[in-house]
Amino acid sequence: MNIVHSITDLRAALAPFQRPAFVATMGNLHDGHIALVDKAKPLGDVTVASIFVNRLQFAPHEDFDSYPRTWEADCERLRAAGCDLLFAPRETDLYPEPQTYKVHPPAELADILEGHFRPGFFVGVSTVVMKLFSSVFAGKPEGFAMFGKKDYQQLMIVQRMVQQFALPIKIVPGETLRAADGLALSSRNGYLTATERSEAVSLSRALQALGQAVQAQGLARREMLEEQAMVALAARGWTPDYLSVRRRSDLLPPDSADAGTPLVVLGAARLGTTRLIDNLEI
Ligand code: PAF
Repeated sequence: MNIVHSITDLRAALAPFQRPAFVATMGNLHDGHIALVDKAKPLGDVTVASIFVNRLQFAPHEDFDSYPRTWEADCERLRAAGCDLLFAPRETDLYPEPQTYKVHPPAELADILEGHFRPGFFVGVSTVVMKLFSSVFAGKPEGFAMFGKKDYQQLMIVQRMVQQFALPIKIVPGETLRAADGLALSSRNGYLTATERSEAVSLSRALQALGQAVQAQGLARREMLEEQAMVALAARGWTPDYLSVRRRSDLLPPDSADAGTPLVVLGAARLGTTRLIDNLEI
């Protein structure tokens, strides 16, 4: 696996290729990331991963400094997975000057759910993804980029960005990988104490229960059921930000007229000092 740090070296390494298949990560790789690399491999003529902990998507009080950085283990996992090229820019490679040009996704999609509780998060994500895309795909007739459904809203925002900017990139969604007990794999699971780790699956169970309750009792009772689900999770010691049933098409709340519409249940909650997110299509 070739490892490059600058955009210039990345483009030189990609020069012989026409159809990169790309997995963007912030490192601390788990099986979910490797599944995305596996998905990428047959699609393109070169498989590229990036590792970059993007300061722009962290608020000052969030975990940018403590975000797990596991460089050697990550390289080993990517090598073993058959990744061809790793782009690991230093902060000054990707942001040689303050990034004053930014991508602002539409408020109706980016200021709800995660964006409501993490203001500016999707500006940071969209800006770095656009920059990673321009680094990897510039001059290429087509390409593929894998994004996990675990970050459901991120996946949708990136899909719309690619569509609106007419980027010649196909976004390929990857299913969420789960531990044996059902906890969605996430780099932030590593923050959990042993006691919190055994409790952590309650988030996905709460989403499942909420989805089943809405399906059984109807969309008219959605808001009350969401409220009850938050109270039940809080009673287990969590601090929920939201547990919410949304339309898959636009992540807006469904009303009674939306019966039969594909839905997704999304949730974010804090357990101790760790904030976890998860979702479930229903
Ligand atoms: O999902 C992530 O790991 C990050 O948000 C991404 C897409 C790599 C951008 O920094």
